[in-house]
Formats: sequence, structure tokens, C-alpha cells
Amino acid sequence: MSKDSGRKKFSLRTVLGSACAAAMLFALPAQLMAGEGQIPDKITINVQAGCPQIAGLDQGKKEVKEFSHKLHAEKYLLGKSEYAAHPYTDAFTCAACHVGAQSPEMISKADKCARLTAAIDKEGGPKKYKEMMHAVCQNCHKNMKKAGESKSGPTKCNECHGK
Ligand code: HEC
Ligand code: HEC
Ligand code: HEC
Repeated sequence: MSKDSGRKKFSLRTVLGSACAAAMLFALPAQLMAGEGQIPDKITINVQAGCPQIAGLDQGKKEVKEFSHKLHAEKYLLGKSEYAAHPYTDAFTCAACHVGAQSPEMISKADKCARLTAAIDKEGGPKKYKEMMHAVCQNCHKNMKKAGESKSGPTKCNECHGK
């Protein structure tokens, strides 16, 4: 499958998803309504701040500010599955980071903290979840750098976490 057909298939899914979602728009965060679909644009990754009810997380010392979520999902990841910790397809890049998700709707319609609680439990606790997130994010950047790709992402702590 070419990259283009993958992208087309993906946008169709997004459109269909939005149509279904229209019926329950009231239930979706404003962030999701603003964009063309279900992919929040830039997000600050800080599970502790977003879901303080989840026990055992670090107190937000290591958030990732202004993560280019949508750019990753729609551009950076295309054709790069070989570098990723979890395999995905260009038609469904979400699976690279939302491990185990089967569709965009599964992510965007779920209650965020319930979804994260399940993800953390599945990994075996907050510490393992952190390790998993580092494998997801950092390893792809490292593997791309090692392979000599001209554009790879940051690999050093403070490049993701700030100073
Ligand atoms: C490619 C980006 C990236 C790099 C590089 C990176 N991290 Fe992280 N780190 C993350 C993400 C994403 C999370 C998950 C944040 C969350 O769940 O709130 C995280 C979580 C953490 C946490 C858990 C604390 C919290 O607030 O959730 C610690 C501690 C941490 N990182 C330390 C480090 C250290 C030390 C390094 C360097 C050895 C490093 N990180 C490199 C992306 C990165
Ligand atoms: C490169 C990694 C990555 C990719 C690819 C990715 N996401 Fe995410 N996304 C994250 C992280 C990290 C978070 C913050 C932690 C969480 O909520 O799981 C997040 C959060 C979200 C949220 C909750 C936003 C909020 O804070 O309210 C939604 C909805 C979402 N993603 C949907 C998607 C969809 C749909 C796709 C595929 C089109 C996708 N994501 C692809 C990493 C990614
Ligand atoms: C499959 C590979 C892959 C995965 C997985 C991935 N990235 Fe990246 N990331 C890239 C590439 C490629 C770039 C550089 C893109 C460019 O400069 O054109 C990048 C760039 C970045 C940058 C630099 C700023 C920017 O937006 O260009 C940050 C910060 C970053 N990634 C954080 C993360 C975090 C946090 C995660 C996990 C939630 C993650 N990345 C997951 C491939 C990946």
C-alpha cells in the first residue's frame, strides 16, 4: 500500500468517525471539536496533572510541554514503523503510542483517565508505564538517529522535559 492510499484511508476513517461523534459532541472536550477530527493538535503530556486521582504517579516534574501530537500522528510517523517500539500502520498511526487501541474512536471517546488507568494497569504500574512511554518516544528518535535519518526527534532528557 502506498503512503498516499494509507493517508486517504485514514482521513476517510476520521470523517466517518466525526460523523458518528457528532451525535455526542456535547460529551467531547472543546479541544477535539476545534480540529478537523479527533486528533488534538499540541498537547502537554502530564498524566499526573490531568488525572490526579491515579495513585503513584510522579508529581508532574517531568511533563512534556507542547508535544506536537497531530504532526506526529499525521506526518512524522508515516513510513517509520520500523523504528517504533510498537508496530503501527500509516492508516492508523495512533497505535504507535496508544498501545493496544484499535481505532481513533477507542481513544477519543473513552474517558481519558479511565483509559490511562487501564493503560497503566496493563503495563504493571506507573513506573512501568513511564518506561513504556520512554520506549515509545525516545527509542524511535534514537533508532532513527542511529539509522542516519536526517530528521529524528530529541533523545536527551531536557530536550523533551525542559530544564
Ligand atoms: C522523547 C521524549 C523524552 C525523552 C528524551 C525523555 N523523556 Fe521522560 N518522559 C517522556 C514522556 C512522554 C513521559 C510521560 C509523561 C507523563 O506520563 O506524564 C515521561 C516521563 C518521565 C518521568 C515520569 C515523571 C512524570 O512526571 O510523569 C520521569 C521521571 C522522566 N520521564 C525522566 C526522564 C529522564 C531522566 C530522561 C533522560 C534520561 C528522560 N525522561 C527522557 C518523554 C521523554
Ligand atoms: C507519537 C505518539 C502519539 C501518537 C501517534 C498519537 N498520540 Fe494521542 N496522545 C499521545 C500522548 C502521549 C497523549 C497523552 C497521554 C494520553 O492521554 O494517553 C495523547 C493524548 C491523546 C488524547 C487525549 C487528549 C487530551 O489530553 O484530552 C486523544 C483524544 C488522542 N491522543 C487521540 C489520538 C488519535 C486519534 C491518534 C491517531 C490519529 C493519536 N492520538 C496519535 C501520544 C500520541
Ligand atoms: C515512529 C517514530 C516517532 C515516535 C514514536 C515519536 N516520535 Fe517524536 N519525532 C519523530 C521525528 C521523525 C521527529 C522529527 C521531525 C522533524 O523534525 O521533521 C520527532 C520530533 C519530536 C520532537 C521535536 C519537536 C518537534 O515537534 O519537531 C519532540 C519534542 C518529540 N518528537 C517528542 C516525542 C514524544 C514525547 C513522543 C512520544 C509520546 C514521540 N516524540 C514519539 C519521530 C517519532
